[in-house]
Amino acid sequence: MAYRKRIAVLSGAGVSAESGLLTYRDNGGLWDNYNPMDVASDKAWKQNPGLVLDFYNTQREKLQGIRPNDAHRLLASLEERFNVDIVTQNVDNLHERAGSTRVLHLHGEVTKIRPENSCNEADGFSENLVVDCGYSKVVLGDLAPNGAQYRPHIVFFGEPVPKIERAIDIFSAADIVLIVGTSLSVYPAAGLYRYACPKAPIYIIDPADIPVHDSRIIHIREKATTGMAAFLEMVQ
Ligand code: OAD
Repeated sequence: MAYRKRIAVLSGAGVSAESGLLTYRDNGGLWDNYNPMDVASDKAWKQNPGLVLDFYNTQREKLQGIRPNDAHRLLASLEERFNVDIVTQNVDNLHERAGSTRVLHLHGEVTKIRPENSCNEADGFSENLVVDCGYSKVVLGDLAPNGAQYRPHIVFFGEPVPKIERAIDIFSAADIVLIVGTSLSVYPAAGLYRYACPKAPIYIIDPADIPVHDSRIIHIREKATTGMAAFLEMVQ
């Protein structure tokens, strides 16, 4: 079988913007209305877990009725010709719903919950304890079979990122890097492209200026849907 080039994709909130989900840091974005330290940090979970649960209940509810857009679909279609891994910072499930088969959620998944005591260094997020809660609300007092409070299956600010090693492996093996719809403000995700080999081109699809400089970068200054169509032409 012929060798299929490996594409490592890093996606962010911008890829879901045309589906109707807010990004975090654009004008009017989620972090304009919430302080992430109050609703999405390890400290917030300790001090005010009810507020954190409410915040993620709202995000889960917003996902109802939202559909993948052409950018998600074009990313999925890359699998027809390439060996594709998507490392997403998004907590939505739109890549999977568009048909992508290898999606690594670096920051967790909003439709999933786990017992608050399930995270330990030996087994990462104890994937076997992660429960798909769909679009339901989770409240204080919702307990897992082991008696612990359920929490969102989200990597809060201040917590380690258990899947980062796997993500580094993906980027280290890439022939082509594709970064779509992320402000590259959150580490370690923002530094992943640096693991790609020096010959790998780095495509960035984002309508805004990008905060990184590297001679390998090809900036497609478009929204995700039209940018993905342009990218597909470029890698014909
Ligand atoms: P940001 O909100 O920081 O960045 C969104 C990026 O998408 C910006 O660069 C926009 O210019 C771009 N954008 C906006 N509309 C777009 C469109 N239609 N097509 C393409 N790009 C568009 O979101 P992320 O970089 O994903 O983490 O944020 C990273 C992390 O910060 C998130 O995973 C979340 C957040 O705090 C946690 O909560 C742990």
